[in-house]
Amino acid sequence: MPLVTTKEMFKKAYKGGYAIGAFNVNNMEIVQGITEAAADLNAPLILQVSKGARAYANHTYLMKLVEAAVEETGLPIALHLDHGDSFDICKSCIDGGFTSVMIDASSKSFEDNIALTRQVVEYAHDRGVVVEAELGTLAGIEDDVNVSAEDSSYTRPEDVQEFVERTGCDSLAIAIGTSHGAYKFKPGTKPQLRFDILEDVERRLPGFPIVLHGSSSVPQEFVKIINENGGNMPGAIGVPEDQLRRAASMAVCKINIDSDLRLAMTATIRKYFNDHPDHFDPRQYLKPARAAIKDMVAHKLVDVLGCDGKA
Ligand code: G3H
Ligand code: 13P
Ligand code: ZN
Repeated sequence: MPLVTTKEMFKKAYKGGYAIGAFNVNNMEIVQGITEAAADLNAPLILQVSKGARAYANHTYLMKLVEAAVEETGLPIALHLDHGDSFDICKSCIDGGFTSVMIDASSKSFEDNIALTRQVVEYAHDRGVVVEAELGTLAGIEDDVNVSAEDSSYTRPEDVQEFVERTGCDSLAIAIGTSHGAYKFKPGTKPQLRFDILEDVERRLPGFPIVLHGSSSVPQEFVKIINENGGNMPGAIGVPEDQLRRAASMAVCKINIDSDLRLAMTATIRKYFNDHPDHFDPRQYLKPARAAIKDMVAHKLVDVLGCDGKA
């Protein structure tokens, strides 16, 4: 099976009350850890590549790694550009074989967001590629952009219908209180997503797939392992998984997770070096790191997304 778009995946996920996991990939071990979990659990997958990942690993290497994952597993896998910030990067990914792109013009005015998104949609749809757009601004760090909590803003439900109609986008990322990175909320506070906004959006766009970015939960056991093994991650707090599960049962069809995989990988490697200070073969520490990613993804597929068995 070749790479697929997210069209069928989202249709089934919407109807079935579950979401597809969109996991960020940067190297071979990450691709393998994610796809081994999905293969064991027969889950559809979105593997996504950021501008930073492309700069780090190179478009062709990532493309070939994901093609290898498709060949090895036979799963329906979509290859998606995460947070494309210009027409040119979207065009380059579409021309280079991606099946889905995000144009993130959420920091622009409503009209400029519509104009740029529309331009990407026209180019993508002519080539069979689907487009995710964003309305509203998440707090946190993505690539080299750091949005403070004060500069973030919830999606206005009254804007979504006009935005989707005028752009023709295939899915919409909205801001309901999630944020990027490992430091999402102040320690001691109780994060609460704005389900009232999600419900309102769902009412205005029946059947339309909604996307949640910034959906790592920052498991405290990994923060603890990192800090016990020479790290310093004070006050890292994420989105409660039960709230993500609730969102997945609603109109949310794609949930983005990156930071939790980074935490699993880094905690495992830090601990490995503390336990084996004399080791220096990268395979020795990358093997358990890959297994930790696999375990984390398996947990997300079953307990958060509910997409196991849906491939
Ligand atoms: O939302 C951003 C993702 O976590 C990707 O992060 O831009 O550092 O690759 P990155
Ligand atoms: P996290 O930082 O919460 O993992 O979010 C990832 C993301 O939204 C990628 O686009
Ligand atoms: Zn994101």
